[in-house]
Amino acid sequence: MDLKDKIISERVPEHVAIIMDGNGRWAKKYGKPRVFGHRNGVKAVREITETAANLGVKCLTLYAFSTENWNRPRLEVNALMSLLVETLRIEINSLNENNIRLHAIGDLTKLPKKTYETLMEGIEKTKNNDRMMLNLALNYSGRWEIINAVKKIMEDTKSGAFQIDDLNQNSFEQYLTTNGIPDPELLIRTSGEYRLSNYLLWQIAYSELYFAPIYWPDFREEDFYKAIIDFQQRERRFGKTSEQIQ
Ligand code: IPE
Ligand code: IPE
Ligand code: MG
Repeated sequence: MDLKDKIISERVPEHVAIIMDGNGRWAKKYGKPRVFGHRNGVKAVREITETAANLGVKCLTLYAFSTENWNRPRLEVNALMSLLVETLRIEINSLNENNIRLHAIGDLTKLPKKTYETLMEGIEKTKNNDRMMLNLALNYSGRWEIINAVKKIMEDTKSGAFQIDDLNQNSFEQYLTTNGIPDPELLIRTSGEYRLSNYLLWQIAYSELYFAPIYWPDFREEDFYKAIIDFQQRERRFGKTSEQIQ
């Protein structure tokens, strides 16, 4: 039986978030520069995007660049930004053909001008697609997002557009970059690292976590199926007892 056939299609998560980690170590394994790893990471992005869309996932949020990643060597940061522009230009037509909508979360206006413009162009061109959202977290971090939301709430409170008494989890979420997108049911991290690295801190409060012991460029279709199957075998209790769920 194929792995794919073990997946219960009615219980595929609507939103899957991924921390794509291990490009650098993958490259090192082959004695190549880190950028070689990032280039091969793009191949995995392509395959996983296609796989997720085919399974019926509605939103795939990929951690592509964290606010902390600016601290990497300048050469690597530049290479990542150029790779993003190059990839978006190449892939935008195929996203359209596959009815996939590009979206991005993070402090986007602080990205290099060309990266920002290419990204916005891609988002605009694919805005009517509704099969799946490919959501790129770029210059993103969970703490930045929460502070950013608090700032906006304070501004709205000052102007009278928001009343303190109306602050609750639902109204707070509307100030997050993921407004309108349901929380991810499943969070995958590759590379064998067991940490969250400032990713979607608010949204993953009740997500199922799945850690794959392989580097991102090696993460392919079958590995994604494995994660989904593992997810489907879990009991999501949300504080209740097992008996209450059944
Ligand atoms: C993930 O791979 C890609 C980005 C963070 C942009 P890394 O570049 O973090 O690779 P490792 O973790 O150093 O192997
Ligand atoms: C997390 O990976 C960020 C992205 C995948 C874009 P990192 O490789 O930057 O995470 P840490 O610093 O090792 O925790
Ligand atoms: Mg890493």
